[in-house]
Amino acid sequence: MNTTVASSNNSFTATLQDLIEYPSSGILRKVLLKDNNSQYSLFCLAAGTEIDEHTSTRNAVVTVVEGTGNLNLEGKDIALAPGVFVFMPANAPHAVQARENLAFVLTLSEHPQPKKEISQQTIDIVKSTAPILKQQGKKITTRMYEIMFDKYPEVKAQFDMSAQANGNQPAKLATAVYSYAVHIDDKEALKAMVDKIARRHVKTHVLPEQYPIVGECLLQAMQDVLRDAATEEVMTAWSEAYQALAEVFINREQQIYQTASN
Ligand code: HEM
Repeated sequence: MNTTVASSNNSFTATLQDLIEYPSSGILRKVLLKDNNSQYSLFCLAAGTEIDEHTSTRNAVVTVVEGTGNLNLEGKDIALAPGVFVFMPANAPHAVQARENLAFVLTLSEHPQPKKEISQQTIDIVKSTAPILKQQGKKITTRMYEIMFDKYPEVKAQFDMSAQANGNQPAKLATAVYSYAVHIDDKEALKAMVDKIARRHVKTHVLPEQYPIVGECLLQAMQDVLRDAATEEVMTAWSEAYQALAEVFINREQQIYQTASN
């Protein structure tokens, strides 16, 4: 269950202990406050509750109010007890277990910006591949799903397999990859497409950690189909370009997930 306690237009003070309510099992979350940059939520976990390993695309801080438990952050166990403060950088895998009833404040802060802008050289190379992608795009994306479902069969459950069989989904992905190649340096032109795909991704529960899987399989498929045209230069440029696009999707999807859960 989620509730929102205050609006960011007014000052706000709370005694956290008064807001704590433990469900008989699972998690109760109260969003205390959010503004354009940050979100402050009180999490109340019933004893024995576990939050499976996941990542956030935003930097986050856990501040324990009461109870005990364990936070596994990037493979390292941290004992949770009142007063413990943990900073978790964006994309760091973490999991939580409540030993006793456990209450903590989770503060989500910034989405770190992409490390660097895509270089002009990469933009030029990716754009130069647009004609071949128009021609061979569906062959590439059909191959990419073949590789992905073979190597990572667990993702199949998220897909409508009839849209694979009739070629609709490979065609949609091919159009998206081609549009990106043409408009790689024009965020505005890509906005509507990104938004539509991101909404579909949220409906099908796509997670940030799945982007490297699709990236790996897409680049492999490009190599398989384009053969000699997939020069080292082209592959390096597409690797950089894919990461930048993945970041755009991850950030947009994070926003949609957060809006949906409030
Ligand atoms: C930059 C990378 C990606 C691009 C360009 C992309 C593109 C697309 C497009 C064009 C659609 C169709 C949207 C529509 O129906 O309007 C789609 C749907 C979908 N994508 Fe992605 N995607 C990407 C990454 C991912 C990742 C990482 C996953 C995770 C496994 C994923 C899983 C899905 C699923 C499950 C659907 C719905 C398919 C269905 O309904 O059967 N995508 N994607």
